[in-house]
Amino acid sequence: MSPEQVRSTRRGPTTPGDRPPRLGRIPLLDNTLSMLRDPLGFYDRVGAMDADVVGYNVAGTTGYFLTHPDLVEEVLVTNEGDYEKGRLLRDTLGEFIGKGLFLLEGEEWQRQRTALQPAFYRERIATYGETMTDFTAETAAGWDDGDRVDLLPEMQSLTLRILGKTLLDIDVERTAATLEPLLDALRTRTDPSSLSAYVPLGVPTPSNRRIKRTRAAFEATLDEVIAERRAEATETREARDDVLSLLLSLDEETMDRERLGHQLLTFLVAGHDTTALTLTYAWFLLGNHPERQRRLREELDETLGRSDPTPADLFELPYLDSVLTEVLRLYPPAFTTFRQPTRPVTLGGYDIGTDAQLTIPQWLVHRDERWYDAPDAFRPERWTDEFEADLPDYAYYPFGGGPRHCIGMRFARMEAKLAIATLAQRFRFEAVTEPPLDLAMRITLSPTDPVRARVRER
Ligand code: HEM
Repeated sequence: MSPEQVRSTRRGPTTPGDRPPRLGRIPLLDNTLSMLRDPLGFYDRVGAMDADVVGYNVAGTTGYFLTHPDLVEEVLVTNEGDYEKGRLLRDTLGEFIGKGLFLLEGEEWQRQRTALQPAFYRERIATYGETMTDFTAETAAGWDDGDRVDLLPEMQSLTLRILGKTLLDIDVERTAATLEPLLDALRTRTDPSSLSAYVPLGVPTPSNRRIKRTRAAFEATLDEVIAERRAEATETREARDDVLSLLLSLDEETMDRERLGHQLLTFLVAGHDTTALTLTYAWFLLGNHPERQRRLREELDETLGRSDPTPADLFELPYLDSVLTEVLRLYPPAFTTFRQPTRPVTLGGYDIGTDAQLTIPQWLVHRDERWYDAPDAFRPERWTDEFEADLPDYAYYPFGGGPRHCIGMRFARMEAKLAIATLAQRFRFEAVTEPPLDLAMRITLSPTDPVRARVRER
């Protein structure tokens, strides 16, 4: 078979009006139980089907997986105006962040995205570099030679401190006390293997009561933070340009208290776990591939000596860049993207109605052997210029695509690279947790058990 044939779309409709192949042998069988038992296995069974559009039915929802890069591009970029984020996301997260950037639609989304963009300009982000490196060095200072480190909580605390300082300039120690319990409650609520994901928030289950309680505490902290910042702005008249100040500078109609709460929670949810998971997976993979870790250290030593990295140094560190790219391919924290058509559409030759939830899974597309040799292998060196030039657009999209792509992409990539380099300058990481990792599909792709590494001082 020629590469062109291998790369062509897979099975489509043979006669007009055909329906996409479905998961499960019995047509119209509800797939809820199978999703509840093992979401990742559910995705993997879709990946194993020889089809680019696969239908399913979970909790009364008709859904379609789209697994070809051309379909990803069509929905996220080319015809993005025909799609919204959709009911599935609104039902689970709308109550908390429905008026934040991630879920807003139309003109209001456009207005807020434009207002917030300055906090993410390239030059602005470069000024966050020192905080990112300094905070990482502080994390490292808490470790001793031979410590067994539980990576995710360490990286979560690091990325939360960085986010709090750079984007909101708030005292994160205080905010974390109320934020962490809320995030934890939200993680359970959005875990498709947990029944609570399917129970409306109004039903007073223990999980829903916990959400209400933790949310009230978070809102109270937020009220204090907002009051302090408003008082400071009146006293000093000094304009800051972090995200919190940008939001507070909008007029009351554009940014009332509810919107502000949703917006801040959006940034804390979107920017905190995602990067912490990226770093956790990076050390898991580098710990289990000592030869790749050695190559990374050699590059760092050659370019930086023993000094800490700056944003400008990152241009000189191509292997570090490839390591991060490969980590995000294998373990994309945003493991899927959801959309719902706003008018009837045709995708991959199939007619799809406006009630359909579209699942556009990074998890499957990033591990498709049509685009990646040995797709499950950690090979940073695969990312050569030639490979990238040959790779179909949207065979790789850890930050989404089109106008709704991640506003924090540059921030996250810089943060992850500075943190990896700063830690690798100080320690060698030896694997304690070995593959395969057990993963859960919560808001983000998360390990179910602690991921540990032993650190050795260099
Ligand atoms: C490795 C880290 C990250 C990953 C993998 C990631 C992934 C993504 C993806 C895939 C989307 C698009 C979702 C969709 O189209 O439905 C997105 C949107 C978004 N991300 Fe990130 N993200 C990361 C870090 C961050 C950071 C650090 C921030 C903030 C500082 C952030 C803030 C946002 C926001 C606000 C949106 C919504 C943008 C909009 O709709 O206009 N993300 N992210």
